[in-house]
Amino acid sequence: MESGGSGGDPLQVVKTLLELRGLRSRAVEPVGLVPTMGALHEGHLSLVRASLHECRTTVVSIFVNPLQFGMGEDLTRYPRPLDADLGLLEEAGATLVFVPEASELVPPDLVTFVDAKGPAETLCGAARPGHFRGVLTIVLKLFQLVRPQKAYFGQKDAQQTVVVRTMIRDLNLEVELRVLPIVRDPDGVALSSRNAYLSGDERGQAAALHLALEEARSLVSRGESRPEQVVEAARRVIRERAPGARIDYVELVDLVSLRPVERVDGEALLALAVRLGATRLIDNTILGGGGGRIQG
Ligand code: PAJ
Repeated sequence: MESGGSGGDPLQVVKTLLELRGLRSRAVEPVGLVPTMGALHEGHLSLVRASLHECRTTVVSIFVNPLQFGMGEDLTRYPRPLDADLGLLEEAGATLVFVPEASELVPPDLVTFVDAKGPAETLCGAARPGHFRGVLTIVLKLFQLVRPQKAYFGQKDAQQTVVVRTMIRDLNLEVELRVLPIVRDPDGVALSSRNAYLSGDERGQAAALHLALEEARSLVSRGESRPEQVVEAARRVIRERAPGARIDYVELVDLVSLRPVERVDGEALLALAVRLGATRLIDNTILGGGGGRIQG
């Protein structure tokens, strides 16, 4: 169960907790964990490559976590192209993928959950009640099973990184969170498994999210520090470039508390969520320093 540098090892697909425990007990450390819900793209693969580079053993998990989907969300239609995912992982040089059965990881008698307040209640937490409870519960379970020294997350889900970081602090977990930059298509659209739902026209409009973030960034670089002005500029771009979009939120928030900032003086997170047809897309950037990304 050693990866990185050896090259050419086949990809081992682990399906049961028993098998995973056995492999973990023999794993060469440091162990890196890359949690995913599959339908893998370059964003996921950037995390896998970082872990392969930094850790002796890399465990990629693929699990469409039912706990983090709300009523009426896309759990049943979420893409599950497992064979293609395994091909991409093998190509990237991964040697170990954990694909648990829902019945084993989330049995019907599960009654213990990780719930968080504060940063888990704003932004997507307000729009999707119970979402972060589902994410944290599954992420803690994966941390317990894989016992990674490092865990890899994408800034694409900026709030998720903050909420997981807070759980690590609050529950005294011994894992280092690594956050990697958002991978985008050439037209600026952040890669997402959900982009597959978009019609051709919606896909064109999706570029508005990235353009809105860039407009806000340019306003701040020209000296604007009033959050309302920055947010309004971003909203305007979405209204103009994506007339079919419904804006869930555009907010400029503190990087730790995820509460709205009163001024843009240090770094702040500009985060947005937009619905195009039946698809909900999110994107974000860090304004006021940091080169647009969360450090770590
Ligand atoms: P999923 O949406 O599959 O994403 C898995 C990881 O890939 C997350 O850390 C996410 O931020 C990262 N990612 C997705 N798109 C990216 C992009 N364009 N650039 C960089 N990184 C990107 O996030 C989840 O799954 C789940 O909530 C999970 C953590 C697996 C818990 O169920």
